[in-house]
Amino acid sequence: MSKIVAVAGKGGTGKTTVASLLIRYLQNSGKTPVLAVDADPDANLAEMLGMKAEKTIGGAREDFFASKLELPAGMPKEAYLEVKLHEVIVEGKHIDLLVMGRPEGSGCYCYINNALRKYLEVLAKNYPYVIIDNEAGLEHLSRRTTQDVDILLIVSDYSSNGVRAAKRIKELAEELKLRVGKQYLMVNGAPESLSAHFTEEVEKAGVPMLGSVPQDDLIPRFEIEEKPLTSLPDNSAAVVAVQQMAQKLFT
Ligand SMILES: Nc1ncnc2c1ncn2[C@@H]1O[C@H](COP(=O)(O)OP(=O)(O)OP(=O)(O)O)[C@@H](O)[C@H]1O
Ligand SMILES: [Mg+2]
Repeated sequence: MSKIVAVAGKGGTGKTTVASLLIRYLQNSGKTPVLAVDADPDANLAEMLGMKAEKTIGGAREDFFASKLELPAGMPKEAYLEVKLHEVIVEGKHIDLLVMGRPEGSGCYCYINNALRKYLEVLAKNYPYVIIDNEAGLEHLSRRTTQDVDILLIVSDYSSNGVRAAKRIKELAEELKLRVGKQYLMVNGAPESLSAHFTEEVEKAGVPMLGSVPQDDLIPRFEIEEKPLTSLPDNSAAVVAVQQMAQKLFT
């Protein structure tokens, strides 16, 4: 059984950073292979992982929909769509990456989306851990191209607004009747001790707190130098914090 973790939260709170550090933890503790899914149309998980992704699921879907592709003789269209979807997977060290890309345009994509959902469900079963980096608006969760999740990890910055946004995500997941096993709040860029007021806001939001990640100057430095976050040193403050939380999540 694979464990599916979806990382969600308001824009710019650190979702992709946290997803990358969770993947770093899984890779380094031998909890592999990992399937990393970039479900943000403004995709940048590949960069943070030091991988290169040229194709997207959205691109494969558009090509198939526009029937630009000529079906090879004798190949049923389901099989051909599967081949096209499979070409999107980028293989790395103990990790495969799938970039979702843009959502569908207007038109009837029911056939393709149903096939895509089934494909993703079957694919995920090959990996003990699946980490999904979502866009701020939860589009993929609401369109249900992202399958049900075991853990919904909501990332917030150290602000009341961030926590309220986390509460809205929790409520949206409930409204959409997503099957979410557990959900947690992770505060990114937090000071060493959280203020009483902030803790009160978290309690009001009703999302159990998993922990917090401190501001870590190595993260922007690695980004500027275009180094993957997976190669951050073991003693980096954010790496240490995420590792402690990951140990709780992935016992
Ligand atoms: N703990 C941290 N310490 C220092 N910088 C951080 C930390 N976490 C994230 N950042 C920086 O904050 C910025 C936003 O992070 P990130 O891209 O992970 O957010 P996001 O929630 O994925 O954004 P988006 O909503 O655009 O997808 C990045 O430039 C990243 O370097
Ligand atoms: Mg992001």
